[in-house]
Amino acid sequence: MEIWTPQSWRKKPILQQPNYPDAEQVRIAEQQLAKMPPLVFAGEIRGLHRQLADVAEGKAFLLQGGDCAETFAEFNANKIRDTFQVLLQMAVVMTFAGGCPVVKIGRMAGQFAKPRSSDLETIGDQSLPSYRGDIINGNEFTAQARIPDPERMIKAYHQSSSTLNLLRAFAQGGFADLHKVHSWNLGFVNKSPQGERYLNLSNQINQALKFMEACGIDSVTTPQIRSTTLYTSHESLLLGYEEALTRRDSFTNDWYNCSAHMIWIGDRTRQPDHAHVEFLRGVKNPIGIKVGPSTSEEDLIELLDILNPENLPGRITLIARMGAEKITEKLPPLVRLIKREGRSVVWSSDPMHGNTITASSGYKTRSVDAILKEIKGFFHVHKAEGTHAGGVHLEMTGHNVTECIGGAYQITEEGLAARYDTFCDPRLNGEQALELAFLIAETLKSAKQ
Ligand code: PEP
Ligand code: CO
Repeated sequence: MEIWTPQSWRKKPILQQPNYPDAEQVRIAEQQLAKMPPLVFAGEIRGLHRQLADVAEGKAFLLQGGDCAETFAEFNANKIRDTFQVLLQMAVVMTFAGGCPVVKIGRMAGQFAKPRSSDLETIGDQSLPSYRGDIINGNEFTAQARIPDPERMIKAYHQSSSTLNLLRAFAQGGFADLHKVHSWNLGFVNKSPQGERYLNLSNQINQALKFMEACGIDSVTTPQIRSTTLYTSHESLLLGYEEALTRRDSFTNDWYNCSAHMIWIGDRTRQPDHAHVEFLRGVKNPIGIKVGPSTSEEDLIELLDILNPENLPGRITLIARMGAEKITEKLPPLVRLIKREGRSVVWSSDPMHGNTITASSGYKTRSVDAILKEIKGFFHVHKAEGTHAGGVHLEMTGHNVTECIGGAYQITEEGLAARYDTFCDPRLNGEQALELAFLIAETLKSAKQ
């Protein structure tokens, strides 16, 4: 294999990149970014790597979630707080039910660039370049907004930096106190039309917390009760940006992509001989690979050979996104292959991207039932194969949006229009996400028995 450098991807074929009108301006923006401080530190990335190794070995569970795409318009403290809050609430339920630590990773603080199925979007008789995420162009359907603008990379960097700053403050500053998180869950359970179903679990958590308190384990005596760690992640798509934030660690001399702790390759850019795989093979971050229904056994092994030649546990998370109807047919051969070949991976389930449909009203949506069906299928396959169902990967927000249909509050197709805020894929709202956590908890519990 040729020598890797942070730039070696530039010699390979590449998909899903913007056509910037002015290459010189792109170069200037990338140079500026290259001088800016890293967003995360290599030591933290190694910490996540170790935790994911535990997930790969069946000793922990992974919860990854957040927006399909962050935007400049929806950037505010409450939004960051609310998504963080729901992730914490979900993690508590899952930790208790699974009886193992939950590693939390946000699709946050850098999840801006989007792959698109078509280069052009047509409305009426006008065709314009597709919206590719706020780090590239604007969502508004005008010729001006859709021109890719490299200055947006700088803005996305600063937004990621402020987001991360707030997340770190929340995680360490008392907001993540276990007692508080549990009381939010009680509020959810008491209000939910399906609440009775969750009451038992939430009462058990209550008792466990009271027992711990009686033993002197509380937020005053035990820092783990009042603080937590949330890692960040995004799709490593816009490689000029990713390269500019790739830095050499002074302790180990290794290269790390310091724009996020974990980065992943999307289902559309995982060709083994293309630029995205080339870029990712040289950075030491934990890497996710989306595994869709078209992933062949040969492709998967080739990707693992390139991206994890030393077979390090925690390096690779395979994120299956097959669709509710295909998961039990498509996943087993791949799970068997990985087991047979002795590859160490985290298996995670993205039950979102294989289940996108268009409602009769024209909205892109997903049904909570299909999402749940895919997750159940995922657990079922791993149980049958004797492997660890390691985690879930969700598109969700803490806000009360109406983008996915179903759930305890029964959002209908007609109801989608009320608060359909996403520029890209439909997200679970806070209540739907929590409901899912309780349902996953039931599955985790029965898997344990
Ligand atoms: C995504 O995770 O937002 C995404 C585009 O997924 P996929 O690459 O699996 O389609
Ligand atoms: Co998406």
